[in-house]
Amino acid sequence: AHPGLTDRFGREHRDLRISLTDRCSLRCTYCMPAEGVPWLKSDTMLTTDELVRVARVAVEMGIDEIRLTGGEPLLRPDVVDVVDRLAHLEGPTGHPEISLTTNALRLPALAAPLREAGLARVNISLDTLRRDRFRDLTRRDRLTDTLAGIAAADAAGLAPVKINAVAMRGVNDDEIVDLTQFCVDHGYQMRFIEQMPLDAGHTWDRAEMVTGEEVLAALSAHWTLTERAGRGAAPAQVWDIDGGPASVGVIASVTRPFCGTCDRVRLTADGQLRACLFARKESDLRTLIRDGADDAAVAGAIAACLRLKQPGHDIADPTFLQPDRPMSAIGG
Ligand code: GTP
Ligand code: 5AD
Ligand code: SF4
Repeated sequence: AHPGLTDRFGREHRDLRISLTDRCSLRCTYCMPAEGVPWLKSDTMLTTDELVRVARVAVEMGIDEIRLTGGEPLLRPDVVDVVDRLAHLEGPTGHPEISLTTNALRLPALAAPLREAGLARVNISLDTLRRDRFRDLTRRDRLTDTLAGIAAADAAGLAPVKINAVAMRGVNDDEIVDLTQFCVDHGYQMRFIEQMPLDAGHTWDRAEMVTGEEVLAALSAHWTLTERAGRGAAPAQVWDIDGGPASVGVIASVTRPFCGTCDRVRLTADGQLRACLFARKESDLRTLIRDGADDAAVAGAIAACLRLKQPGHDIADPTFLQPDRPMSAIGG
């Protein structure tokens, strides 16, 4: 890989997360207020040609995994074309793997064409299996549509389907076993996520957070868990359930940060490169490319952004400052 993808701490970057839009069709309470947030203006959003160009330069440098995020990435009208173009990029080790993190609402229509275009797999957010809770949590009565989207992803072969739930005290922490059982029954991988301070309303409270430890305790009361080896740079720690093949993941970003093995860099829908989810600084690739920069200059800007990357986040520190933008604008 290009030396510019290795940062000051020796971390080699392989994974680019691209936010396709900051808009969403749900209003999860831990993410957005009911009225939404001030959306990015369309002329500040990268065109598809622009975003594919940035991705091409990154892939030529050695990025070999691209994850599309949002807001809700399937709201981008040309998402199938975006996937098709990204899947055809070529780097030193071949084509990048393309994956997507979605709320699944548009998957009944899009799962098959996305698969056809070269999408490898999807991670889907599902915080509860109860209709009333889903409605309260997302402010939309659409549990049935989400479940249909999950089934569509599975039917289209977007495997392994992973299901993400942010664990929340008094909201869904009594469903840890039920959600996992649902995934075991269908052959999906359930993952529980510690809530991070990235909500638009700045309401995150460390003391309220359900920890990975608590999730494991709830799971261990029902199943025998064995930690799987070979985690690599993945945020999730994976446990085999009763000897496998079923498994469950825990993403303990707060209590067990994985910054030491981080291999990710993010591109926002408005063309800002971020070396970290919690970075205080962004690199303005949009202005650079609209000013006519050549590929070498874009590669130089990517390398310069990674040179500023900090060793890790400091969520646990009393001086921690939440990023200026919410998760929906950064891309998860
Ligand atoms: P896989 O490729 O399947 O391992 O995907 P993933 O787990 O990396 O991605 P996904 O979009 O499903 O994200 C799951 C959770 O991990 C979300 O809460 C993300 O915000 C969080 N996450 C992803 N990348 C990072 C990261 O670099 N740092 C932190 N702190 N959290 C991350
Ligand atoms: N902390 C942790 N995970 C979050 N997600 C959204 N907001 C947060 C947060 N504050 C999750 C979504 C989705 C994934 C991309 O990130 O539920 O599954
Ligand atoms: Fe990487 Fe930042 Fe996430 Fe840590 S918090 S794993 S450094 S992106």
